[in-house]
Parts: sequence; structure tokens; C-alpha cells
Amino acid sequence: MILIVDDDAAVRASLAMLLRHAGYDTVTADGPAAAVEAVRRSTPRLVLLDMNFSRFTTGDEGLTLLRQFRLIAPSVPVILMTAWGSIDLAVEGMRAGAFDFIIKPWDNRRLLARVVTALDMSATPDAGTLDRSMIIGESPALCSVLDTVARVAPTSAPVLITGESGTGKELIAEAIHRNSPRRRGPFVKVNLGGLSQSLFESEMFGHVKGAFTDAVSDRIGRFEAADGGTIFLDEIGELDPVCQVKLLRVLQEQRFERLGSSTTRSVDVRVVCATNADLRAMVAARTFREDLYYRINLVGVELPPLRARGADIALLARHFAADAARRHGLPEPQLLPDAAAYLASLPWPGNIRELKNLVERTIIISGKDALGADDFRRSGAEVSTASIPAGTLDAMERSRIADVLAACGGNISRAASQLGLSRAALYRRMEKYDLKP
Ligand SMILES: Nc1ncnc2c1ncn2[C@@H]1O[C@H](COP(=O)(O)OP(=O)(O)OP(=O)(O)O)[C@@H](O)[C@H]1O
Ligand SMILES: [Mg+2]
Repeated sequence: MILIVDDDAAVRASLAMLLRHAGYDTVTADGPAAAVEAVRRSTPRLVLLDMNFSRFTTGDEGLTLLRQFRLIAPSVPVILMTAWGSIDLAVEGMRAGAFDFIIKPWDNRRLLARVVTALDMSATPDAGTLDRSMIIGESPALCSVLDTVARVAPTSAPVLITGESGTGKELIAEAIHRNSPRRRGPFVKVNLGGLSQSLFESEMFGHVKGAFTDAVSDRIGRFEAADGGTIFLDEIGELDPVCQVKLLRVLQEQRFERLGSSTTRSVDVRVVCATNADLRAMVAARTFREDLYYRINLVGVELPPLRARGADIALLARHFAADAARRHGLPEPQLLPDAAAYLASLPWPGNIRELKNLVERTIIISGKDALGADDFRRSGAEVSTASIPAGTLDAMERSRIADVLAACGGNISRAASQLGLSRAALYRRMEKYDLKP
């Protein structure tokens, strides 16, 4: 039995009809009192809860009711229904333990899919345990990240993963997908940093033959490719303002048109974004849209830098050593105690990726089957970014950008494409380094 709580009789009726048609029993309630009463009478398998009772003034009634449900029937999943524009209520609701949320007006097909998911997941006794397969680490900082991942993965909530370069953002995005009911659906990765404004639409939404000069045939976009699964939007901070608007629209409506076509397509896609930029600061500086920020950041996952995961460094080093040895057909080397201490003392600006590279390089260069601090020191000295003084990478980037700009005669589009950046990303770097075209 599914309980529908909404003060609008027309909404109750159409939800009840939809769900009955799909084979579910329903009960309806027009407000908090009737809802609590219904739950006491017989435990529903699922609650669809309206968050915007127009008869009440504050909008807190929905939240209060949700908290009550969590107390009197903690195992019953609750899906919130919120009007667009009250997304902050949905955020609070997810924090208060809601299973999922749906924006009104809803799409019948998607709503049913969410209902099926909620019922599925709540029927699985170990819904809270995480398949972490390749994620190594036991530090408190990582465990708290994995807790959040375990809670959010089963829902369709958009997740924003932040953290320095090489901290494992992509790995976590994959874990979210793998631990979601969409795991058998596609996981589609898009690097927004490399996508220029002109390519954005055809890449994301697809195009029809003849939509533009090079469109020699129909092509489906990444959103369509991700239907029924997860789309991972990497480097979301690099997206320029025009594309931000286009992305916001598809995220709000889950609907779009292929370039050159007037047919509107609808998809069921879970969105996970990642960035190593400080989006909050970008919102404050008005380079990133606030509405898009809230839309993608319903749940935030912040990955700690490796230097804040002391306990994990030796674990990871051993894991990478075993892995590299296997791939290179070498015996698995032992890590001497002074090696672990040495590795734990480094600043790791390139985080886990840097550690992985250093371990692999050391195994190959040293050729030994027991690695000490000196072996790492020696191989690290060759190219390790850890040994490059702070600020040097910026200086290298600045001079490279200046060179390319000069070579392109100040043509931003051409320079951006040579550097593999979007125009917006190039502009941002020019501003940062005080470069003029
Ligand atoms: N906890 C972990 N256990 C094992 N391997 C990890 C872990 N975290 C990251 N890695 C590995 O480190 C490398 C970098 O991780 P990943 O690509 O996910 O980082 P990222 O945060 O997306 O970096 P960037 O911002 O540069 O894109 C990958 O090879 C990944 O498999
Ligand atoms: Mg990445």
C-alpha cells in the first residue's frame, strides 16, 4: 500500500490513478493529521509526501511530517514532492532522511521508476552496505565520505563531488553508480573542461543530419546515451555561462531536443558532477550560476586531500605496489617501515594519483623486492611533482598560455582549442595570470 499525502484533491486523484494503474494499492491523506492517522492504522510500503501545503503558511509542515514519519515508521521510504523553486526544502528533506524527491509537475514514467526503485531498495535488507571494491583506505576522513556515498547512492539525488586533483573523485562517482539501482544501466562520463561552447549542445543533446555543416548523420547525445543510468559531468567548474543555462534547463526538465530537431526527448538520468574548483566562490564571483549550483549540489561529497588521510598512505602504497608488480611481472615488493614514515611526511599536491605514480616508478627504477625511504626519495627526485616548489606549476601554465596566445595572435578561440580548454576556462586562466590577448 502506498500512502499519498497532498492537500490538492486533483493531485491526490491523479497520483492514485497512476499508481493503481501500475498495480499498487493506494491510500490518500489531505494533510498531516490524516497522514499520521493512516500510518498508524496500517504501515504503508512507501509514502509520497507533498512538501508544499498551500493551506499552511510556512512550508515547514511537510518537513515536520517527514520527521514524524521517520520516528513512527523509520523503515518506510518517503519520496518528497516539491514544487520547482522550493529545492531548499528538498535538500532539507533529504538530510532529514527522505529517500528521494520529485519535482512537480512530474513525469508519470519517471515517477513510476522512482517508486519501483524505492520499493526495491527498501525490500533489500542490506541497502546500506556499500560495494567499495577498488576504494582503498580506512582513515576517518575517507570513511565519512563512504558513509555519505552509501546513503546517497540508492537515491536519484544529484551529487556534487569536490576535492583536489587526484583525490579519487571519478572513483567515487563510479561507486555511486555501482551502488545505485541503476547499476545495470550506462555510466556515461563527460569532461566539460574540454568542451567548447559550440560543441556543447551537439555533444550533450545530439544532432540530426544537416543541423550544421559537419553533421553528416544523426548522432545521439550523451544524455540520451545515459538514459536509465548515470551521467558523470567532470570539471563542471569549467562550464561557461551560456552552457550553464543549457545544462540547467535539461537538469530541471530532463527534457531536450537534438540540435536541428523539434522533437522533445525525455530521459531518466541521474547526474553526478565533479570539480576541483571552489564553486561556492565562483557563485559569489558570479562566474557560476547559483541556481545551477543548487541543482547539482543537492548532496555534496567532499574528498579529503591525501595529506589528511595519514592512515591511508601506507595502505594505498602497498596496494599500488602489489598492483604495479603484477602488471609488470615483478615479485610483490615489501615496504620497509622507514618507507611508510617517509611517504607519510610528503605533502602530496597530486594526491593519490601522485602516490600511485611514485610507487610504480620506484618499483621499476629500484628493481628491489624491499623498498625503503631512500628508494622512494631517489625515484621521486627524478620527476615527482612533490619536489617541484609551490607555485612552479602555475608559472609553467602561465608561460605556456602566454606562448600559445602569442602564436595565435591573441585569437582566443584558436588558443583555447590548441590548449584543449573551453573559451571560458581560458578566460579564467588569463584573468588569474593577468594575461591580455
Ligand atoms: N581510495 C582509493 N583507493 C584506490 N585508488 C584510488 C583511490 N582514490 C583514488 N585512487 C586512484 O587514484 C587515481 C586518481 O583518482 P581519480 O581519477 O578518481 O581522481 P580525481 O579526483 O578525479 O582527479 P582529477 O581532479 O585530476 O580528475 C586513479 O587511478 C584512482 O583509481
Ligand atoms: Mg577526475
